[in-house]
Amino acid sequence: MRIKKKVWIWLVVFLLLIVGYIIFFRKEKELIIWQENLNFEIKSEIKIKDIIKDSKNCTITNEEEYLNTDQLGEQKIKIRYKQKEKEHETELTIKIVDTESPVINYEKEIEINVGESIDLLKDVKVTDNSGEEIIVKVNGEYDINKEDKYNLQYEAEDSSGNKTVEEFTLIVTKKIIGTNYPKLIVPEGGKEVSKTEKGFTVYEVDGSTYIDSILIANKTYPLKNGYVPTDTYTSADGVTSQCATCINNVAYNAWLDMKRDATALGLNIWIQSGYRPQSLQERLYNDYVARDGKNAADTYSSRPGHSEHQTGLCFDLNSISDAFASTNEGRWVNENAYRYGFIIRFPNGKENETGYKYESWHLRYVGTDLSYKLYNEGNWISLEEYFGITSEYKN
Ligand code: DAL
Ligand code: ZN
Repeated sequence: MRIKKKVWIWLVVFLLLIVGYIIFFRKEKELIIWQENLNFEIKSEIKIKDIIKDSKNCTITNEEEYLNTDQLGEQKIKIRYKQKEKEHETELTIKIVDTESPVINYEKEIEINVGESIDLLKDVKVTDNSGEEIIVKVNGEYDINKEDKYNLQYEAEDSSGNKTVEEFTLIVTKKIIGTNYPKLIVPEGGKEVSKTEKGFTVYEVDGSTYIDSILIANKTYPLKNGYVPTDTYTSADGVTSQCATCINNVAYNAWLDMKRDATALGLNIWIQSGYRPQSLQERLYNDYVARDGKNAADTYSSRPGHSEHQTGLCFDLNSISDAFASTNEGRWVNENAYRYGFIIRFPNGKENETGYKYESWHLRYVGTDLSYKLYNEGNWISLEEYFGITSEYKN
């Protein structure tokens, strides 16, 4: 009976020791709760602590570590934690994804001149969080040779299929090129002689006539006898040709711009006849009179002293023939000369105003303020009609 009691006592002591040990040394179950979405954006800055929602019975020791978000796809990461001074680690699978669309930096409106070639992608910059090179393309139809406003799109797509589409407008327009050309020089000392029927003042300056700073040469208003242009073009490299030495400086520079733009469109325009001194005009006119008679000659050739060719402000282009009007060059000149300050001086159907039949090839420089008005959206107004003056010989 005594022995039995001893055994019991030892048994109880033993059990108490076990319970005590369990209470004192047991490992409490750690509890780490991740956030639900374990997809992380590529190239983003995420720390271990950012992905843990809660932790119990342990301390995360690498919570300040950044995830490697450089590569798309799944990866295993290690979470280290301490419990009762002991280090542990556990593994977690996360996924690096790309859900952000590329950002396109672009101009909302691009304006070009008719016929001007353009690389629509030249100034477009695309950035994307993936760091990869993104291809951009232009969606939509346009024609650089046709004036219009074209609504187009830039489209950029990254390799994860994130797409950005931005709308922009390409404006194909006819820019006025010559607005900054210098003004034509009007000699000092003009005398007011009359008013035109449209209210413009007619000035006589050194024997020639000016209206609104425009030198007038027509059947009613001859130039000063023996007029020679001043302020003529001199090329920097000393090249001399009929045009380069006799044409008005402003007009010739305007011509060079016009020729440059025509050439860029594959058009070939050239000056066939520029400055003509009074003596040459006299010879030409007399030859025409001998050939066709005076009445006929007066419809297409100026009498000496009345020709614009003597002003150095005009020139005849290409073939000097009626056929010029229907060539690509002739059509372009008709639609674009005003942008450089030139007018079709003898427009079609305006014979009664100008005194001359239609000359599609004869350009006169007047500057863009006036050329723009006379162009009249393709329905050319004559200089005579605009100023309200006649063009008739007295006899
Ligand atoms: N052909 C023009 C009218 C001139 O002779 O000046
Ligand atoms: Zn001419």
